[in-house]
Amino acid sequence: MCGIIGYTGTEDVKEVLLNALELLEYRGYDSAGIAVKEDAQTKIYKCAGRVKDLRLICESEKFLSGCGIGHTRWATHGGVTGTNAHPHRVGNVTLVHNGIIENYRELAAHYELEEQLKSETDSEVVAALLNRYYEGQPNETIKEVVTKLKGTYALVILFDDQPGVIYSVRNVSPIVATICDEGAMLASDLTALCRFTNRYFVVPENYILKLEKTKLTLTDFAGREVEPEFLTVDWELNSAGKNGYPFYMEKEIMEQPDAITRTIESRITGGLPDFSAEGIPDSLFTDCERITIVACGTAMHAGLVAQALVKSILHMHIEVEMASEFMYSDPVIDKKTLVIAVSQSGETIDTLEALKYAKRRGAKCLSIINVKGSSIARESDYVLYTDAGPEIAVASTKAYTTQLAVFYLLVAKMAFSRGIFGTEDTQSFVRELQRTPDAIKKVLEKRREIHVLAGRVLDAKDLFMIGRGLDHSILLEGSLKLKEVSYIHSEAYASGELKHGPIALITQNTPVVAAVTQEKLMAKEISNIKEVKSRGADVVVFIKGAIAESLQGEYPSFVLPDMRDEYMVMPASVALQLLAYYVSSDKGFDVDKPRNLAKVVTVE
Ligand code: AGP
Repeated sequence: MCGIIGYTGTEDVKEVLLNALELLEYRGYDSAGIAVKEDAQTKIYKCAGRVKDLRLICESEKFLSGCGIGHTRWATHGGVTGTNAHPHRVGNVTLVHNGIIENYRELAAHYELEEQLKSETDSEVVAALLNRYYEGQPNETIKEVVTKLKGTYALVILFDDQPGVIYSVRNVSPIVATICDEGAMLASDLTALCRFTNRYFVVPENYILKLEKTKLTLTDFAGREVEPEFLTVDWELNSAGKNGYPFYMEKEIMEQPDAITRTIESRITGGLPDFSAEGIPDSLFTDCERITIVACGTAMHAGLVAQALVKSILHMHIEVEMASEFMYSDPVIDKKTLVIAVSQSGETIDTLEALKYAKRRGAKCLSIINVKGSSIARESDYVLYTDAGPEIAVASTKAYTTQLAVFYLLVAKMAFSRGIFGTEDTQSFVRELQRTPDAIKKVLEKRREIHVLAGRVLDAKDLFMIGRGLDHSILLEGSLKLKEVSYIHSEAYASGELKHGPIALITQNTPVVAAVTQEKLMAKEISNIKEVKSRGADVVVFIKGAIAESLQGEYPSFVLPDMRDEYMVMPASVALQLLAYYVSSDKGFDVDKPRNLAKVVTVE
């Protein structure tokens, strides 16, 4: 949604803020700005555009104070303009905000603030309200104002008469903070902190954080001070960088074999899945009668793969629900339902609200999350963390395959706990999972072939992806990747469904990407390919090696390494990630920051 940074310390505050905003820019990149406290003065630099544009407008400025705040915006209220960019300043108050204040218009009218407002944003109303109540007592003022706000907020505030001091308060929208030799800092997420330290804490909701150069104070609304609960992030300090790749997306695609190994190996004991480190009791898997997965986007696509495995191996009822639809679809949830929330960021508000709804209905909740200590993780009864490391590119790749890896382990664990798999079957299933890093490495080694195939769809406006069963789930994710980073209108269809209408759209040279990885579905998938080919389609096929000769060399194709059918998702999805990546980079787009998107969606 938006990226926020606050720093007070001994370093060059402009460089600290701008460097942090570059690391946070994946969260939102419509506009950017910083505010620096120079004694009683507060200087603001902001503009529509990227952090590099902001750097240009303040490059000649030198600051002595060492205290400031910064923001990268993903517009919600008000257009993408310099005026609407953060920070916002009203009277003695300067702030940045991530979230949505639902009652900002009523507040502006009720307190007659309109005259003071220059922007169209909800955030500026909060600044005006703080200024209205401020009489030299920051904590009292913050408490007075936030109790009037409806909605979500992470507020980071400077008061003119408080040199070198930053205040913050949050509700739902994330803020993490730390203190180290270089000073005290807070940010929307860890990527901006891990350059300085791997110790951090999550600012608890409705507590007021005061940052000073050598001290931080956490106070509840009753004025009681509490000790922050520090956590340690196990990310390599430099893993948030690009390590020489042109884009984070390519780096993160290439990291997948190691990310999967890190995610699974610590959870396999004697060849069997072992979740004892997470304290997950077997009863969670044996007592439930049905499963509901709630997630968004790519995380939801991981859930679709899990759904196929649960049905085919566990023979259980399972639903995968779009988190944004879940609460409004009268879901059948009770204490016999195991709800699994899947989220890379752990901050997607649709998924968080769906999880809270499920808990209110008595369900046990397990989450599969990449960011430790995130809101969804804290809301869950149990958490299985993926160990993908920081995922910066907006288009999710390694988070997806590590989510799948956790799901494979989870299904094996459930099959074993519920007596469907014996020890041998479970160990055999897990051994195949342990082969996935090598299978993916084989795809990565042949990525130049995919780059050549990408050339066939580079100029496409519309494109179909067709496959059956798990291939359809693979292509839903592959299609999202292509849409997200190349802006080609790609649609994934269950290939058997085409003849019920959509095949009317196939004309001469319509690009079609087909996946054929399920041996039991191969014959039908190939006849569907022939149907579109006979109507002029230009078909590219991603096919499992063992059945590749069935194409008789008739189609441009990419041959995937062989795995058991249910595991072919892993190499196939990586091949489609590369396809999307090469199309986007060859079109000259900013692959990591596609237009209109943000890495974390914290608005409903
Ligand atoms: C995936 O490439 C997209 N960026 C998007 O669909 C993403 O998967 C979705 O917003 C969910 O994010 P989360 O995993 O952080 O909850």
